[in-house]
Amino acid sequence: AKKAVLGPLVGAVDQGTSSTRFLVFNSKTAELLSHHQVEIKQEFPREGWVEQDPKEILQSVYECIEKTCEKLGQLNIDISNIKAIGVSNQRETTVVWDKLTGEPLYNAVVWLDLRTQFTVENLSKRIPGNNNFVKSKTGLPLSTYFSAVKLRWLLDNVRKVQRAVEENRALFGTIDSWLIWSLTGGANGGVHCTDVTNASRTMLFNIHSLEWDKELCEFFEIPMKILPNVRSSSEIYGLMKAGALEGMPISGCLGDQSAALVGQMCFQDGQAKNTYGTGCFLLCNTGRKCVFSEHGLLTTVAYKLGRDKPVYYALEGSVAIAGAVIRWLRDNLGIIKTSEEIEKLAKEVGTSYGCYFVPAFSGLYAPYWEPSARGIICGLTQFTNKCHIAFAALEAVCFQTREILDAMNRDCGIPLSHLQVDGGMTNNKILMQLQADILYIPVVKTSMPETTALGAAMAAGAAEGVGVWSLEPEDLSAVTMERFEPQINAEESEIRYSTWKKAVMKSVGWVT
Ligand code: G3P
Repeated sequence: AKKAVLGPLVGAVDQGTSSTRFLVFNSKTAELLSHHQVEIKQEFPREGWVEQDPKEILQSVYECIEKTCEKLGQLNIDISNIKAIGVSNQRETTVVWDKLTGEPLYNAVVWLDLRTQFTVENLSKRIPGNNNFVKSKTGLPLSTYFSAVKLRWLLDNVRKVQRAVEENRALFGTIDSWLIWSLTGGANGGVHCTDVTNASRTMLFNIHSLEWDKELCEFFEIPMKILPNVRSSSEIYGLMKAGALEGMPISGCLGDQSAALVGQMCFQDGQAKNTYGTGCFLLCNTGRKCVFSEHGLLTTVAYKLGRDKPVYYALEGSVAIAGAVIRWLRDNLGIIKTSEEIEKLAKEVGTSYGCYFVPAFSGLYAPYWEPSARGIICGLTQFTNKCHIAFAALEAVCFQTREILDAMNRDCGIPLSHLQVDGGMTNNKILMQLQADILYIPVVKTSMPETTALGAAMAAGAAEGVGVWSLEPEDLSAVTMERFEPQINAEESEIRYSTWKKAVMKSVGWVT
């Protein structure tokens, strides 16, 4: 059959904590044409440790690209229409590899990992000057969440890493760097770079000067020679060296939450989005201003869409466990077989019947930043069954979002009138309705929930030398929406929320 001719297409890798995807979009309409997804293993070698295999992650990217290209072929779409590739990725997850062999020197230490709790405690006693030293430069609190402490742990504890650093063979990167280096040739000329959004999550990057910070590297004792070059989020970094898309420029790179902000078209000061993935991340664009939170939020780089383009910042509320609680109910308790079943269980009861579930598996992130917290399920009676627990798990995702929305409203002064949402969990209608009830504002869902990949594709397509995607406001196609209005009264919503807060207090202080 004759292959159909299309406008320029752009591909995007979305490498999340739970899965890898490759998606291909039409640059003229932002329509998703084809995609493929592969689940990624997580290893828990000790209590609180979370690791992944960097090679499995890389392999999954190749597999998703190959399969998506096959599917395009079945649709009679010629893959030569693909003009560029963008990368979006789980942030903070830390990899160190050998630049001569291309081999990782340890598993990837995942952002959720808690092994550095004591490293963080020790470092916080040594902060030079005032306590603001790290936060004023990076926008981040000193926490197990960010890469610098994970890298410190690898340098302190892994002999192979120490030796490779001594012998000038070690390279450090977050997942974007590992992927771009490997995809552009690895040990045979791979490009060692990252973008400003990913760099801003390492705790080594100065978000004002947009450079690695010498004082921070000294404080964390990180050799600067192993750090990647920092580039903008939209420019050609290098070309694919293998696979179905060999020769294709990789020209977009954004941490997944920044990518979703772009994909949701939140380009104006005050526009915000909440993405429900493994964790849940509410980002509000603060424009060219770096706004520092008084209420437990992070200041982070939102995007810089081109070498000569200005940098934009965001305030972020990070929740560690959202979709991960559903995966835990599936893999650890076995009360569901597939993630989708959660909706059916929750629907059967329509209430948690006084059961509250605080999934503080990795401590509590925003707004508490409490590493001593651990998960609890409370309010149980003999009447409680798995359906109530399923419902409580969904409610927990919504309550956590309420906590960060409250913090965001306090920091910004102007309350959000609605919440724009995306991510896999937004297909769950019960969750979306609960979210509207608990926030007591409308929840607005884009019809195409793959906004993370869309953002990376937009950045790649708009890059200088590619130029197939226009980011001019008049060219950005309007996104169609589904709205969920609050259906319970405000008083009922407040009672539920205050009981949740009581449960949160009980989760704190388990590990001291
Ligand atoms: O900061 C971690 C975040 O980037 C992970 O995103 O989509 O895997 O929950 P996700």
